Amino acid sequence: MTEAKIENIEDLSGVGPAVAEKFREAGLTTLEEIGTQSPGQLSDATGIGVDSCAKFIKEAGKNANIGSFLTGTELMEKRATVGKLTTGAEAFNELLGGGVETQSITEFYGQYGSGKTQFVLQLAVNATLPIEQGGLGGEVAIIDTENTFRPERIISMAKALELDPDEVLSKIHVGRAYNSHQQMLMVEKVSELAKELPIKMLAVDSLTGAFRAEYIGRGTLADRQGKINAHMTELARFGDLNNAAVVVTNQVSSNPAAFFGDPTKPIGGNIVGHTSKFRIYLRRGKAGKRVCRLVDSPHLPENEALVSITEDGIRDG
Ligand code: GTP
Ligand code: MG
Repeated sequence: MTEAKIENIEDLSGVGPAVAEKFREAGLTTLEEIGTQSPGQLSDATGIGVDSCAKFIKEAGKNANIGSFLTGTELMEKRATVGKLTTGAEAFNELLGGGVETQSITEFYGQYGSGKTQFVLQLAVNATLPIEQGGLGGEVAIIDTENTFRPERIISMAKALELDPDEVLSKIHVGRAYNSHQQMLMVEKVSELAKELPIKMLAVDSLTGAFRAEYIGRGTLADRQGKINAHMTELARFGDLNNAAVVVTNQVSSNPAAFFGDPTKPIGGNIVGHTSKFRIYLRRGKAGKRVCRLVDSPHLPENEALVSITEDGIRDG
């Protein structure tokens, strides 16, 4: 006999109005959101004891089919819903197997001025395009930690695609984060926003800047990596639950005497690398062009594409 499934958090055993309110205050309104938490996380977010949280997570997860095994067929079905977002450059789209994927994290890393922010802005504009035109037919959230969002640039990129610039601007939601703590909290805010709006892309520009500034010296490295890891996990979950593309930017270590010796190595190292499904290394090429190299992709060959950053935005190089 199969048990009747429950659909609302209020139906979880032991959840009365007070507990339901605590969940809501923490921005958790669905079984899926509760079922994908760890007990420690849920307890921190709600103030409910860890043991109770573990029970709620178990029951919520069971009813939302989390933590169960999926058949190959079911995974194929999930795979079929993956969207591909155009970068604006054909050669680069091909390199990525069609475009920036939803349900995954794509990381752009490179030195200052290599074009990371330009890619974020271009992808944000493109995500508002209908699916038939290489977009995701949705809205965008950008967590801006470096105050580099430029509405004027969005307007030029939108005009170049013959889109209504005001409409595009109205679909891009920018949250300024002044430190790594706010940056992490903002993912929760975006999850709330995604309940009302079709947020199909979430960008964090920069993913690592605030962490790098706040955690200085070797002694703090493990702590920093732990925080970045937790943040990446939240971002991956957002992408998964909302069928959204998650785009993050990352600087390379510019000071050879700093944490890592190699000036072409991204900050955050393997922690960021393991969670990002696509890592793209950007560097300046000849005549203002940018070389985009796909690094460590599990199912695509390591290769390069050339793009130009033009007045209209990112285009084939
Ligand atoms: P950091 O955030 O400092 O690490 O750099 P970044 O990798 O984010 O670099 P960003 O994306 O800001 O790239 C800046 C470069 O993009 C500039 O040096 C220009 O070459 C180019 N760029 C930015 N805006 C425009 C524009 O309006 N027109 C054109 N043609 N190029 C632009
Ligand atoms: Mg930037």
